Amino acid sequence: MTMRIETQCLHEGYEPKNGETRVLPIYQSTTYKYDSTEHIGKLFDLSVEGHMYSRISNPTVEAVEKKIAALEGGVGALCTTSGQAASLLSILNIMKAGDHFISAATIYGGTINLFAVTLKKFGIECTFVDPDADEEEIQKAFRENTKAVFGETIANPAIAIFDIEKFAKIAHKNNVPLIVDNTFATPILCRPIAFGADIVIHSTTKYMDGHAVQVGGVIVDSGNFDWTNGKFPEYTEPDESYHGVIYTRDFGKAAYITKARVQLTRDFGTYPSANAAFLLNLGLETLAVRMERHCENALKVAQYLAAQEKIEFVNYPALKDNKYHTLYQKYVPKGCSGVISFSLRGSRENAVRFLDNLKLASNVVHVADIRTCVLHPASSTHRQLTDEQLKAAGITPGLIRLSVGLENIQDIIDDLEQAFQKI
Ligand SMILES: Cc1ncc(COP(=O)(O)O)c(C=O)c1O
Repeated sequence: MTMRIETQCLHEGYEPKNGETRVLPIYQSTTYKYDSTEHIGKLFDLSVEGHMYSRISNPTVEAVEKKIAALEGGVGALCTTSGQAASLLSILNIMKAGDHFISAATIYGGTINLFAVTLKKFGIECTFVDPDADEEEIQKAFRENTKAVFGETIANPAIAIFDIEKFAKIAHKNNVPLIVDNTFATPILCRPIAFGADIVIHSTTKYMDGHAVQVGGVIVDSGNFDWTNGKFPEYTEPDESYHGVIYTRDFGKAAYITKARVQLTRDFGTYPSANAAFLLNLGLETLAVRMERHCENALKVAQYLAAQEKIEFVNYPALKDNKYHTLYQKYVPKGCSGVISFSLRGSRENAVRFLDNLKLASNVVHVADIRTCVLHPASSTHRQLTDEQLKAAGITPGLIRLSVGLENIQDIIDDLEQAFQKI
């Protein structure tokens, strides 16, 4: 039966047979029993399907992977212990020391640090580009050893909309894949694969979980990228750790996601527990309903903020005069998530005083939660960035990130109002 996305949130990935549990079970087992040594040998050669060990796969996690792959329109998905692990593996599955990739500058601070500092120590270099630059300008960042392009659908915390089609076109012209972090949009608001993205990743810690109970991540493979184009020998040459498996030959469209699981998850140990996947699944079941309300509340809050004297600017692309309004209409027409960023006039201290006076909205290192929350990126998530990096990521000293929750809209606005009166 064809299911629309709201139905997929509830029913994809797990289909109980006659008399089985209605709710996805937690398979709390690290291991799986087989009748013969020969069968286990075949599992190790990847010549038969099956769970081997819960560092690589588990039936509860697998059900969630199938659901997320369906939501994003991919051929397969791989869950990870965090969004950071998803970003890391998405790159390492393509690159090795000596390789290079290109990323939009307006991305999450932790990802900037991973790309600019940690991956550099492993010999993988990243060039950051202005996502709003024209194609010719972006093309200049490509090198002989460039292997991928990366961006965020709705950038955290600049709330800039990434022009997925523009970047897919440039990436494909250069025979490399486009990786899109779709954390804030979720597949309810945008499905990047439909616009040409090859790999989609998420911090599931955010809206997918939604309730702030479990850190997690996921990688989704579109199955559309041609890994046999000569630039990616790891996909077309035998992997001796699996007795000569050739990923493109043996796994076809699922080459990327299979390789990520059987090489990287095996070696780095980044697979989540069954219990973590169970909690994520609870969040996914209500994702479509929650996203609708997050967007509705956030638009009203953004309109309220835009009318405030004390505010210098509001970043929320659903507002008509926003720089990204045209891209918003194209990529996230159902809404721009619950996350808004805005800057108060005056000093950084002013922003901090405003935050400290909020009563309902909590000051937390988190975003995309059912409860309204706020954060000052320059003192927290993006604290490690230089002034230049802060500017490139769209962060001013007075910038506040407001994640609008599911409370009554008037209560949220009343809280903001009383805090404005105190500055
Ligand atoms: C857009 C985005 N990507 C990735 C991450 C990293 O995810 P995690 O905190 O789950 O490791 C975050 C975290 O805030 C994020 O906002």
